[in-house]
Amino acid sequence: MGRPKSPAPRTSIANVRLTSVERAQMEADYRTLGFGSLSEYVRFLHATHRQRESSHGRASDVLQEYTCPRQFHSTTRGAMFQGDSLGLVHRTLEPNSIDLIMTSPPFGLVRKKSYGNEDADEYLKWFRPFAEGFKRVLHPKGSLVIDIGGSWKPGIPVRSLYHFELLIMLCRDYGFHLCQEHFWWNPAKLPTPAEWVNIRRVRVKDAVNTIWWLSKTPWPKASNKRVLAPYSEAMEYLLKNGYKAKLRPSGHDISENFSKRNVGSVPPNLLAVANTESNGRYQAYCKEHGIDPHPARYPATLPEYFIRMLTDAGDTVLDPFAGSCVTGEVAESLGRRWICCELDENYLEGALGRFLNRNGNGGAKAVKYAIYQPCALEISDDEPLSPDGGSVRPSCAVQPAERAPQHRRQHKGGAADSVALSRRTRAL
Ligand SMILES: C[S@@+](CC[C@H](N)C(=O)[O-])C[C@H]1O[C@@H](n2cnc3c(N)ncnc32)[C@H](O)[C@@H]1O
Repeated sequence: MGRPKSPAPRTSIANVRLTSVERAQMEADYRTLGFGSLSEYVRFLHATHRQRESSHGRASDVLQEYTCPRQFHSTTRGAMFQGDSLGLVHRTLEPNSIDLIMTSPPFGLVRKKSYGNEDADEYLKWFRPFAEGFKRVLHPKGSLVIDIGGSWKPGIPVRSLYHFELLIMLCRDYGFHLCQEHFWWNPAKLPTPAEWVNIRRVRVKDAVNTIWWLSKTPWPKASNKRVLAPYSEAMEYLLKNGYKAKLRPSGHDISENFSKRNVGSVPPNLLAVANTESNGRYQAYCKEHGIDPHPARYPATLPEYFIRMLTDAGDTVLDPFAGSCVTGEVAESLGRRWICCELDENYLEGALGRFLNRNGNGGAKAVKYAIYQPCALEISDDEPLSPDGGSVRPSCAVQPAERAPQHRRQHKGGAADSVALSRRTRAL
């Protein structure tokens, strides 16, 4: 008996143009994955894509649900909107109209803050329509910069992966490119959660936020010359005393050019900024008007660094999770156009204080932090490890004072030491 005829025979043929390399790779892949033919493999990829789209819901399907936020306040360069920024990125703004999205979304924190964080597990689902909207409004040469802190899983000393998953989702599912990850080190961060850090002593202080710098193409406009840093003392020494060109053990050829004085040094992707501002114009305005200041503000230096490096004067910066509108204030002071959007009207009421009686961005900038190399303090191995990994709480919640360190290593006075410069130096 012959094979029964399919009610939907595959008679339609699509020609796909490929390079010989692409074809060879695809053929190798379908065989490795066990598909019977290239057609079967392509149908599988397409079905997977459709399935993913329908399970997460395309923004365009629910576009009707988004309402445009209302304009709350404006300046000559920018505007604050109150409402859901999904309406802004899917309806109000024109496609490709934004040069930089600089933002700090609500984090998937275990301990919820008063501005309402989404649970870590739900986070990616929640973020998808924003990702689609960001892609829509961002200019092809523009950048998307997301400051996002990590979080702990509830009840165990284990970290959530949600912020890494967010990064992977943005690149894999929405086609963003990771230009470079940055790490914001907040030297003033308190040692939390106290249970793991101070009581059971099985984890260390979590003092960095990740900052994902993404873009729609691998070539967004950028220049590190806009964010050069002062030279280190070691480099100043070399510049003064000269450097002999030679091949480093690592194989790097350090040429004579290395000892040429330029404007400054290229900074690392570690941004050291203490988040300690407590008596600026914003706080004074909030106090005067009986407004609760935003509980999770980022320091102005963060948006300043990315705005300087990634935009020109006159470009447009968007912060879709504006909070107290730090991004708008910095953009305004740097001569960029800006748009800030925030759900909570109270936060915008406070943000108004940032745009009244402006006289510069203020504040000491050239702050230098020093950090010890790990293991700078010599502690003997007599200090016992927690054999159960901290699963049993010590009977005495407050640990006895630690034994005095046996030796303090002679500090060699390297470049990382806090050397009094003409600038303010903060040793930690
Ligand atoms: C981490 S805070 C941003 C703080 C801000 N960078 C600052 O320095 O003041 C995140 C903010 O996003 C706001 N938010 C959450 N969902 C939003 C949405 N759909 N549209 C607009 N704002 C939203 C929250 O109300 C919260 O104020």
